[in-house]
Amino acid sequence: MTAGSAVQVEGLSKSYGRLQAVRDLDLEVGYGEIFAILGPNGAGKSTTIEILEGHRKRDSGRVQVLGEDPADAGRSWRARIGIVLQETSDFGVLTVLETVRMFAKCYGEARARVPEELLELVGLTSSAGSRVRTLSGGQRRRLDVALGIIAQPELLFLDEPTTGFDPEARRQFWDLIRLLSSDGTTILLTTHYLEEAAALADRVAVVAGGRVAAVDSPARLTAHVNTAATVQWMDGDQLRVEHTDHPTEFIRQQSADGTELAQLTVTRPTLEDAYLQLIGMA
Ligand SMILES: Nc1ncnc2c1ncn2[C@@H]1O[C@H](COP(=O)(O)OP(=O)(O)OP(=O)(O)O)[C@@H](O)[C@H]1O
Ligand SMILES: [Mg+2]
Repeated sequence: MTAGSAVQVEGLSKSYGRLQAVRDLDLEVGYGEIFAILGPNGAGKSTTIEILEGHRKRDSGRVQVLGEDPADAGRSWRARIGIVLQETSDFGVLTVLETVRMFAKCYGEARARVPEELLELVGLTSSAGSRVRTLSGGQRRRLDVALGIIAQPELLFLDEPTTGFDPEARRQFWDLIRLLSSDGTTILLTTHYLEEAAALADRVAVVAGGRVAAVDSPARLTAHVNTAATVQWMDGDQLRVEHTDHPTEFIRQQSADGTELAQLTVTRPTLEDAYLQLIGMA
């Protein structure tokens, strides 16, 4: 293993009874990276993240998170990581601001962000006085994110952080993640939104069946799979589709006699195409 990575995992395995959720998984996340784990339901993403957070015991393998083994790391290590679980916990009777204040007190004022500033950061200012149980799904998730970053962690785990976010909230969340990243926070997130991984992540791991199927930057993962471009246009009322490695030359030929190619589009494979191929769906 390379010294000096935020997360180092070698040969991690975990079974629930006879079900092997994680099989001999390797993973390395550098300090300062935004790293996304993609994979179908049941692939072992949450199990892996929970082991890295010290919330779940592993069967075997080597795990180092911020230089320590999460299975026996203490309070000082715990204070350096932030966690947003896939499942949210219940603070039903408190208001949003009361909940954040309660957490801020636990961490002590020196470490914790100022509650009002934190709510501003996650876009919850107008819900500060609302009881947590009355929040919408997306607002609730923003609170989870707020609580995850309240103590300014060095490493932030986010398990499906934007589930239930509307498109605007998702983009605000991306800005927040980029801001945290530019302050030096290492970010490890899972997501089912391929465009989220493409927009945010320095590197992506595709996990399937408890194993890592591929790790690379979104652009390189996409390029590996299929580089042909798809050219589409309307020929009268007929849709024409051509797959080619040389779209510029193809279009030049098609329009050499001055023909206008109606509704012309040129598209490249997306991360989603790469993902579907990697998990064997395409
Ligand atoms: N506490 C548990 N007890 C028994 N089986 C479990 C437990 N937690 C997870 N599993 C099983 O382990 C496998 C991996 O689950 P995990 O939650 O890690 O997947 P995931 O990749 O996070 O999926 P999702 O995208 O749906 O969140 C699944 O088959 C799941 O049913
Ligand atoms: Mg999960």
